[in-house]
Amino acid sequence: MRTIIWKDGVVITIDQTILPDEEIWIEMRSCDEIAKAIKEMKIRGAPLIGVAAAYGLALTAYHSNAENREDFLKEIDISADMLKRTRPTAVNLFWAVDRILKKAKSAEGDVETLKSIVIKEAESIAEEDAVVNKMIGKHGSKLISDGDTILTHCNAGRLATVDYGTALAVIRAAWEEGKRIKVIVDETRPKLQGARLTAYELMRDGIPVTLITDNMVGYVMFRGLVDKVIVGADRIVCDAIINKIGTYSIAVLAYEHKVPFYVAAPLSTFDLNISAKNVIIEERSPEEVTYIKSVRITPPGVNALNPAFDITPMKYVNYIICEKGILSREDLSKMAKAHHSA
Ligand code: MRU
Repeated sequence: MRTIIWKDGVVITIDQTILPDEEIWIEMRSCDEIAKAIKEMKIRGAPLIGVAAAYGLALTAYHSNAENREDFLKEIDISADMLKRTRPTAVNLFWAVDRILKKAKSAEGDVETLKSIVIKEAESIAEEDAVVNKMIGKHGSKLISDGDTILTHCNAGRLATVDYGTALAVIRAAWEEGKRIKVIVDETRPKLQGARLTAYELMRDGIPVTLITDNMVGYVMFRGLVDKVIVGADRIVCDAIINKIGTYSIAVLAYEHKVPFYVAAPLSTFDLNISAKNVIIEERSPEEVTYIKSVRITPPGVNALNPAFDITPMKYVNYIICEKGILSREDLSKMAKAHHSA
């Protein structure tokens, strides 16, 4: 089942802010609506944000009344800028938008030709995501043994992608191969993607899942209850993994307890030309911390911090799983060096 669908100038997706109470599919007809949905996290998860942004440009193209190539490309540029201002950390958004811009600007032809090129490229980005995630699952499941208990964080599942997920792709593939695995997921405050979304997805697939609060990770590892950790990523830079806030603490705990720590992500999440110090970590509203859903849980007016992501230095990462296979830290630094010299 696809999480996002393009149908004749309409983009249809699940409103992830309402899950798991209800699965409501929303329709978007303009790039503005897509940008708003990304900002409000109705659409979330690095790969899905990238695909939604691509479809945002496809909507601009589809509904464009531009009479010439210059005006059309100007409209696409304006939409691209708007999308790039939604969320700064996940690189997939920038990757997808730039890929479409490049394709459109280098193409020959009239407005109608350019329109179909933009729409086709967005469709390819979506299609590729689904294919790549299956490959991530297939490669990553080699790291999983029968009987493993795997800890995951946030939601790197079908909901965060077009289909199948990244970290959850590995879990799904291992389960489909008949490995009797169990999953532990932490709540992932403040937006509760683990409790709301990962628990929902895994329960629907019949994969055994146990929920813990974020501050229980150390104790469950101390008790020996976790065999492996698998998380997704929002950006993989040459010296670190950028992922949902809380990932770094889990990685340090895994290191201390000698629990292997794996990251599953497509190459569209790789940004090896830069290092962690160049990444903008999104700061969201303090109200996401002082409220749970619409209930305030703090004294009124208390100060709160809300960085949405954190930085996990590469030394804590045992392997990165992508569509190419299983990469070691050494493989990654070779790739980074090749990028630098390219
Ligand atoms: O703020 P979110 O919910 O968009 O953050 C999502 C994550 O951090 C995921 O772990 C990451 O995007 C990988 S999803 C395949």
